[in-house]
Amino acid sequence: MKATARANTNIALIKYWGKRNETLILPMNNSLSITLDKFYTETTVSFEENLQEDQFFLNGQLASEMEIKKITNFLNIVRNKAGITLKARIDSTNHVPTAAGFASSASGYAALATAAAKASGLNLSKKELSILARQGSGSACRSIYGGFVEWQKGEMEDGSDSYAVPIASDWKLSIMSVMLEQKQKEVLSREGMKRTVETSPFYAGWLATIEDDLANIKQAITNRDFELLGTIAENNALKMHATTLGANPPFLYWQSGTIEVMEKVKELRISGIPAFFTIDAGPNVKVLCEPQYEEQVYQTLSQLDAVQEIFTCHPGSGAILKEGI
Ligand code: DP6
Repeated sequence: MKATARANTNIALIKYWGKRNETLILPMNNSLSITLDKFYTETTVSFEENLQEDQFFLNGQLASEMEIKKITNFLNIVRNKAGITLKARIDSTNHVPTAAGFASSASGYAALATAAAKASGLNLSKKELSILARQGSGSACRSIYGGFVEWQKGEMEDGSDSYAVPIASDWKLSIMSVMLEQKQKEVLSREGMKRTVETSPFYAGWLATIEDDLANIKQAITNRDFELLGTIAENNALKMHATTLGANPPFLYWQSGTIEVMEKVKELRISGIPAFFTIDAGPNVKVLCEPQYEEQVYQTLSQLDAVQEIFTCHPGSGAILKEGI
């Protein structure tokens, strides 16, 4: 009862920000992302007779008790579904730049869900895998699929209609992951979104604009309208970050380097290069452009002192089970 799976991270263009159910991880709003080709997690799950407890090794090291507890809670969902009680050994390797705030729970739980389901004998559809991965980390439900993906928030209380769907597209965009020096510890996205929902007067404003943003970005994807896609994505990210300033206590994920990159992206646009940014729950910036501008965007942004490294990514594939296991 052993399986290995691999899943890529994703970057949201319309952000998931806020839950309506903390336990089942049900979101307040639909979100839309691109699964990337560069950063991924590979995870092996092995259910074994002789184990007393679940064991979790992350990048070859025994994980902390807190991390193991999270994994056990997640595996309990799988065990219940599969009707087994066996404990598991989990070996997970993150192929993401270390200590850069790129480590993503999205690739982690998408890979874990895919491997654990198979190893436990479950034969789940992609939709079911998306629902399962969601219960580990919301954004993970989108990494089950490749390319452009929408997470439909659903309406049901049990979360059975809250899962990701792929948006047919073979549009090859460039996503430059701009890594900055990590200056302070961030408010984790889970805590940040909770605080924002509970205390920020701007949260209602965020929710009010999602439907239009989604409709417009889907139109942009259908028409391959990069300017429209970039404009909506950038604006959506700014709105998400604006909600955190109204939270109590307030917080901001940006650092000075974040703003420098944002300004450079605007300068690039003024000079005729269509580039747009988006930012998740951390200081790093992802810059979107079309492949023909990759080199110029890379050269321009690498000149900034605050920039440590730039990883050029493209749309990647969904979670896969590895053969031969
Ligand atoms: C800002 O999926 O990490 O990256 O569901 O609590 O595990 P949990 O949160 P997570 O949040 C991601 C937030 C975001 C936006 C996004 O990816 O849509």
